[in-house]
Amino acid sequence: MPVGPKRRRTAVLISGRGSNLQALIDAAAAPDYPAEIVLVLSNLPDAKGLERAEAAGIPTRVIPHRDYETRAAFETALTEALAQTGADLVCLAGFMRVLTEAFVGRWQGRLVNIHPSLLPAFPGLDTHARALAAGVKLHGCSVHLVSAEVDEGPIIGQAAVPVLPQDDEAALAARVLEAEHRLYPLCLRLLAADRVRIEGSRVTVQGFWDSNGRLMNPDPGGLR
Ligand code: GRF
Repeated sequence: MPVGPKRRRTAVLISGRGSNLQALIDAAAAPDYPAEIVLVLSNLPDAKGLERAEAAGIPTRVIPHRDYETRAAFETALTEALAQTGADLVCLAGFMRVLTEAFVGRWQGRLVNIHPSLLPAFPGLDTHARALAAGVKLHGCSVHLVSAEVDEGPIIGQAAVPVLPQDDEAALAARVLEAEHRLYPLCLRLLAADRVRIEGSRVTVQGFWDSNGRLMNPDPGGLR
């Protein structure tokens, strides 16, 4: 049997529901996917995502941040758990702790996050409500390398969805979440396959699409 390229050992850090984790688990089930999920780590013991990991036979760890007096001590525990499992890449997937510069520096170029907006618009929380309030016509999600500033760092990929007139926060969140589940596995694939080049604050993706796609909302095709 031919031996494929080595799969990058990837840890996923969560705090909750874990639907993005699930998308990554599903993608990594394909034998040719260049990353394998070797650890799911949560700072909250009741994170639903832990059950998803267990169902997929992936080792889990709970490291409650409240057990540590300082952020640095919490991160030392994270670092030890990651080292024990030999993780080479780390995906944040709804992980609700801010990471220090020291931690981020250690993982530079190998630590990614998904954020539910088209960054740099709407960093922080409540992105869907803020997008509705701002009246933007396109909203979406971003996968980016993590830097010391929250929700900054070079963007690997983005997916846009239209904001429709009848949308409330829940409807818009659901549309974005569906896009997240497609974007995150794609971006992890690119990073793990070493097709992501970081030049300052910009990422270029090697040998990928050359698309002339246009995104427009209102969509001219929808005019009556
Ligand atoms: C997602 O919307 C993600 O973009 C944000 O946190 C949410 C996590 O959802 N960072 P889930 O736990 O992956 O379902």
